[in-house]
Amino acid sequence: MSSRPKILITSAAGKTGLPTTLQLLERGYPVRAFVRRLDHRSEVLERAGAEIFAGNQYALRDMQVAMQGVQRAYQCAPTAPNGLHFNAVFTAAAHQAGLEHVVTLSQWLSSRDHPSLFTREVYLSDILIRMRPDMTVTTVNVGWFADNYLMVLDMAAHLGLFAMPLGNGDAKTNAPPSNADIASVVVGALLDPATHAGNTYRPTGPQLLSPNEIATAMGKALGRRVRYRNISDRMMLKALKAHPPSNYSDAAVSQLKVYVDEYRRGTFAVHAPTTDVHDVGGRQPQDFETIVREAVARRPDLRPGLAHTLQAMAGFLKLLATTPPNLSAIEAGKDFVQLDNPAFSQDDADWRATHQPNPETNFLGKVA
Ligand SMILES: NC(=O)c1ccc[n+]([C@@H]2O[C@H](COP(=O)([O-])OP(=O)(O)OC[C@H]3O[C@@H](n4cnc5c(N)ncnc54)[C@H](OP(=O)(O)O)[C@@H]3O)[C@@H](O)[C@H]2O)c1
Repeated sequence: MSSRPKILITSAAGKTGLPTTLQLLERGYPVRAFVRRLDHRSEVLERAGAEIFAGNQYALRDMQVAMQGVQRAYQCAPTAPNGLHFNAVFTAAAHQAGLEHVVTLSQWLSSRDHPSLFTREVYLSDILIRMRPDMTVTTVNVGWFADNYLMVLDMAAHLGLFAMPLGNGDAKTNAPPSNADIASVVVGALLDPATHAGNTYRPTGPQLLSPNEIATAMGKALGRRVRYRNISDRMMLKALKAHPPSNYSDAAVSQLKVYVDEYRRGTFAVHAPTTDVHDVGGRQPQDFETIVREAVARRPDLRPGLAHTLQAMAGFLKLLATTPPNLSAIEAGKDFVQLDNPAFSQDDADWRATHQPNPETNFLGKVA
């Protein structure tokens, strides 16, 4: 039997779960990959040596089975309603299984009174997961993923437009991390609890970029000129309704409006870039142009061609004709818990105090 700890990866077919699983397997660790269904992604994981567990990670019974014989785990809640339920299931099962160390994926925005219900649930989850004294926890606190920009790569490739409601095109507001770099920090923390227990890390890309610079990097990777267009929130919501991303429910879309507001407020620029990918993940963070180049290489549909351009134009016309979703109705329909006095992250004194690097370690301070 391997003397190395067995590690459970939740959301293992997802953006960070998949590279985390592959990186752990490359380093020779036994990994159980929790996926929702068997498909091409689970095949990739299985071929790389993962033990596949297909089930419902919101169901305590499945999580209990998935944690049998496991010593460490990556807790990654899907971007979906019931995040707190997911985290309660995970935390209860981790307690029963006697896990020794967990790395949890949090949010840079995580704060007590945040206008986003999903974010408030992350805040509560961050507290709950740390309540068992004999299990250590490392928090990976990510801002706005580079992957989010790739949602609009079709329009950049075929119409030369990078259209998102990110505000001033010249404001350097994000240092976007790649999924693989986020995973490298998760892996570093999973493999060395003695060093990383109790710490919070914030993986970022190598430099702060403005929306105009993001458009330029997309253009270089795509081999064409791409211009940034600051669209309204309404237009973004129309686009999300006309062309819903496969993994975003209506409820998740309702939170994106809050997140772009935070983006324009510059919250993702606070304490960025960091050196955590290098220091914890042991690698140089990927620059954004490289991230786009890799995405383009995986997608033949982004190559220039009349058919692709016509398809993109048809998609754009569909977007224009779509009425935006009614976010209040979505939130009311799902019984979202509402606060009387919500506060964006930077308006929260506690958030400001806990989101500065510790001058001694250069990492975010230890969480009590
Ligand atoms: N995007 C950002 O900018 C950002 C920033 C900060 C933090 N985050 C955090 O990132 C987290 C999401 O991480 P991610 O992007 O790596 O994940 P992800 O790509 O959204 O993947 C989630 C995975 O969970 C699976 N899943 C959903 N419901 C399931 C169920 N009932 N049982 C089993 N599996 C299920 C999905 O399966 P299928 O694919 O088969 O549907 C998917 O593979 C969220 O907690 C969010 O708060 C995101």
